[in-house]
Amino acid sequence: MHTAHRSPAITLTARPSGDLQTDLLVIPIFADDDLADEAGLDRASGGEVTRARERGELTGKPFDALVMATSFSDWKTPRVALVGAGSRKEFTADHLRRIAIVGGLTARQRRLTRVAMLDRIGTSVATAVAAQVMAEGLSLANFDGAAYRTSGQPRSWIETAEVRISGASARLNDALERGRVLGEYSNHARALANEPGNELPPRVFAERAAGIADAVGLTCEILDEQRIAQLKMGLLLGVARGSQEPPRLVVLRHDPPSAVPGVVLGLVGKGITFDTGGISIKPADNMDRMKDDMSGGAAVICAMSAIARLKVPVRCVAIVPMTENMPGGTAVKPGDVLTSACGKTVEIINTDAEGRLVLGDGLWYARELGATHLVDVATLTGACVVALGKTTSGLFGTPSAWVEDVRRASERAGDRSWPMPVFDDYKDQLKSEIADFTNTGGRAGGAITAALFIKEFTGDLPWVHMDIAGTAWAEEPKPYQPKGATGVGVRTLVELALDAPAWSAQNLKS
Ligand code: BES
Ligand code: MN
Ligand code: ZN
Repeated sequence: MHTAHRSPAITLTARPSGDLQTDLLVIPIFADDDLADEAGLDRASGGEVTRARERGELTGKPFDALVMATSFSDWKTPRVALVGAGSRKEFTADHLRRIAIVGGLTARQRRLTRVAMLDRIGTSVATAVAAQVMAEGLSLANFDGAAYRTSGQPRSWIETAEVRISGASARLNDALERGRVLGEYSNHARALANEPGNELPPRVFAERAAGIADAVGLTCEILDEQRIAQLKMGLLLGVARGSQEPPRLVVLRHDPPSAVPGVVLGLVGKGITFDTGGISIKPADNMDRMKDDMSGGAAVICAMSAIARLKVPVRCVAIVPMTENMPGGTAVKPGDVLTSACGKTVEIINTDAEGRLVLGDGLWYARELGATHLVDVATLTGACVVALGKTTSGLFGTPSAWVEDVRRASERAGDRSWPMPVFDDYKDQLKSEIADFTNTGGRAGGAITAALFIKEFTGDLPWVHMDIAGTAWAEEPKPYQPKGATGVGVRTLVELALDAPAWSAQNLKS
């Protein structure tokens, strides 16, 4: 296996474009852009900017990249990448983040190791936000999915990146570092989700989680199958029964010195290292993708590590139940009844609805450890993909003010998400003749009934469930998102933790 990612050294610069000593200068280009603030560029390009515009090649269409030489005057950088930014009026931080990714990927395709990037004047993006998202994007570009490829050219990485921000502001260096860390830990999560199931069984996933967490000084505990049995986590054990690989449960704690008083953020992630469906086995087509069924768990582990790395002043506890979901002679069967750690009983109708089971025990444990506010992240339902597609995660939860806190955090993070209802009306679909409820509610509203199942284990704490089944993996490559794991959720959870001073003051009683 090769290292899947590197963190570039990112610094601020104030130099004019022609003085930047770099291999590639990335410049966002708006639709109808006269480039008045970069007057030297056309001359440096030998008039190529004007000619490209006349040919219709330089329209500012979002994320189109055009590379040209700048060797026609005394510019120190030999080339620029002009990356489309769309209309200046509609320009957002998310555009800037994606432009940074496109610019960074363009450099790496050309095996260029030094990158510089400018923020253009006259947009509504605040300077500190611009610094953060540019650093995020340049970090995110330094990821390679082909970790097991032994042939072809050696990988090329961005070593150094310089960022120029228009307009002064204090704390730009903090913003830059925050962005770099968010990119780095998103990449850690992508690397974990990309790992094949054979390389990342629960024991290995737990060890990898501990390694990432230890490096930033988090307290990490790995519960083995005996400890899990002592805690009577019958749902997690039920899912694990069909597998040769024992389950694990990872607990991370962040207990910073001057934390926001009175609140503990509880993060729970689905850690199914491979989901065959179990006895209710999945069809063969695309089953390989189910190696990423631990993306929620990876997001939680990596977000916690970033939170610790950035010394975010809020207490957090993270729980990731880890297991395979396999068929076999000892596997849980449809019709079986499992008893959860909190005592509620579940009739298993479909063994492929395993995520909600491990989350049920995980959420209970987060409460046991003192969480006051819960967020779970999971590749939970195909139904959520049908409802919202592959760019938007589903948000479910209560009270709506807490859902809105998470939604706004996801917007700042560039992880799109949207609220879905959790009306009690749907609960009838989970009625069991023999137990407290079933684990599936039929096809209608499948993402919602899954959320209602999970809600049974939240003990009426403020809780949000983020269904990332559609967003964790990119099937179609985009200029700013290569195929494969996306790292969705990491930046949302960190932004949420950073926002603790605001949400801890809310009265969230439902
Ligand atoms: N891991 C899957 C959900 C999933 C589907 C993630 C597609 C990513 C892409 C989950 O464990 C599952 O199998 N869910 C079932 C639930 C059903 C049996 C009620 C589903 O969505 O089909
Ligand atoms: Mn499943
Ligand atoms: Zn699953």
